[in-house]
Amino acid sequence: MYDSKKFDTDVLVIGTGPAGATAALALATYGVRVRVITMFNYLANSPRAHITNQRAMEAMRDLGIEDVIRKLATPWEQMGDTLIATSLAGEEIARLRTWGSGEARKGDYIKGSPCPMADIVQPLMEPVLVQHAAERGAQFSFNTEYMSHEQDEEGVTVTLKDVLDGREYTVRARYLVGADGARSKVAEQIGLPIEGEMSRAGTAYVIFNADLSKYVAHRPSVLQWIANPVAGFGEIGLGLLRAVRPWNQWIAGWGFDMSKGEPDFSREHVLQRIRALVGDPELEVEVEKNSTWYVNQAYASYYSKGRVHCAGDAVHRHPPSSGLGSNTSLQDGFNLAWKLAFVVKGYAGEGLLDSYSAERQPVGKQIVLRANQSRLDYAPFKECFRMNQGVDTIEQLLERMRAPTPEGVETRQLLQKALELKDYEFNAQGVELNQRYESRAVVVDENAGEEVWAQDKQLYLQATTRPGAKIPHAWLVDKNGLRTSTLDVTGKGKFSLVTGLAGQAWVRAAHELNLPFLRTVVTGEPGSADPYLDWQRIREIHEAGAILVRPDGYIAWRQTEAIWNDGDALDQLRDALALILDKAS
Ligand code: FDA
Repeated sequence: MYDSKKFDTDVLVIGTGPAGATAALALATYGVRVRVITMFNYLANSPRAHITNQRAMEAMRDLGIEDVIRKLATPWEQMGDTLIATSLAGEEIARLRTWGSGEARKGDYIKGSPCPMADIVQPLMEPVLVQHAAERGAQFSFNTEYMSHEQDEEGVTVTLKDVLDGREYTVRARYLVGADGARSKVAEQIGLPIEGEMSRAGTAYVIFNADLSKYVAHRPSVLQWIANPVAGFGEIGLGLLRAVRPWNQWIAGWGFDMSKGEPDFSREHVLQRIRALVGDPELEVEVEKNSTWYVNQAYASYYSKGRVHCAGDAVHRHPPSSGLGSNTSLQDGFNLAWKLAFVVKGYAGEGLLDSYSAERQPVGKQIVLRANQSRLDYAPFKECFRMNQGVDTIEQLLERMRAPTPEGVETRQLLQKALELKDYEFNAQGVELNQRYESRAVVVDENAGEEVWAQDKQLYLQATTRPGAKIPHAWLVDKNGLRTSTLDVTGKGKFSLVTGLAGQAWVRAAHELNLPFLRTVVTGEPGSADPYLDWQRIREIHEAGAILVRPDGYIAWRQTEAIWNDGDALDQLRDALALILDKAS
């Protein structure tokens, strides 16, 4: 019998980054005792992640903090008119419409999710997660270093060190979450096999303050690529200007040759680079911070061992291209949290936790490969621009790009192809939303057959109610006549049995089971009316069928056929829940 007094906490989370802070926020929201530690005296102290995709925002919406994040974030409208130019002040070579902001894609994004894209840097995002987690009961300790752990049948004994006085002490928890970043000690200690390669290439990053509004406010984007011989080194071969705070705080980035050691961060060199990227030799710049980061291509082949589960960069390490790191990390935390909560509360057997690694590892592997491929996909630009391959000055570059000759035509056609390839980095709604979970927490719909992808799987969201997919977004209407998403009437720590007006047998079955973690959603009823008939159009089931949606918004099971008989509905629902939750009926 579980005795809470034997444990200092139910879950101990190592790390306050996107993975750990989200796990903590969700656990605290679900009413689970959770402690979180970080070895530092502060949260993220550099901008790092910023692109926050729709699925990550959906998780934040479910946890009730989407509005807070959107107030702090650079809005979608200012994210995506990305330049390729010889400098910010210089000649434009091309513009990309990024992050779904272009006319061709915006509709897909709006249709696919109630949440817009947003751009919020880690030093703004993490405090929101941590503050709300703390307000909901999570306990935080800064200056606290994870040292080691031992697990047994009942729990985990974790040794921590108070960084301020060197004192070591132990904390007893039922579960340990290693969200301790790319140098994860937890992942190493539980022996997670990491496949791939670390530090493939190096990038220099300089954060600086300078008002660049006159160059960008009329064509806003949080990313600008600079084709300029000064910055033309490395796999990408373009320099980068990234808005941290529109439009007066920026990051200048460029590849450097790792074989020659650390990049040159002398004031003179840094100033010369920034001025060349901006294209203003007189620009006054206040440099805030220099840093380097390295391109990794590595992922763990599984995420858990016994009572210890790893999440975030601890298990997937890759470059920022495609903006997937923090997005994936916080979704790891979101996936794990409800499962831990259900096991801690006794709603599920421990077998449910096996589904965490089974579901998230393929996603981690996919995004590591995608992010690295996104870097390689700059090769066609290098071919167009021929930096350091016969084109050494901006004038030569422009001459080549604009030549009124057959060679010029060919170059411009190459440029078009190069831009189209970048959709896989910058307009890849499918990469962000098309996850299909296969695990014991998902019951396969045997009648559905293999999923056929109607469009490019990486670029386009395919909304479906197949088990393993996230619930499709459709606007319903609440009791006040306001729009509410199918995502809003589900989730929030509970399973949802979604059926239509004709699905009364399901309503009675759920009532009969009387489970504290199961709600019924009848579309068409007041509160979840379907006046646009959008849900009716996309639900892929009979009105008297049912869909079982997990607390994280993924579909666990469905019955596509009409069920009119109470006994059948009860048996089917009970069996599905028993399987998913690893509980004997
Ligand atoms: P993270 O590294 O953030 O946090 C680790 C935590 O563990 C910290 O709190 C640390 O103190 C703690 N810790 C570590 N060891 C410990 C120990 N022994 N004891 C106690 N505490 C310990 N992603 C994205 O989605 N969109 C984007 O646009 C970008 N852009 C981007 C740009 C650049 C330049 C970089 C370098 C990275 C990105 N990313 C990104 C990636 C993103 O920053 C990264 O994936 C997340 O920070 C990972 O979050 P985690 O929570 O896993 O670890």
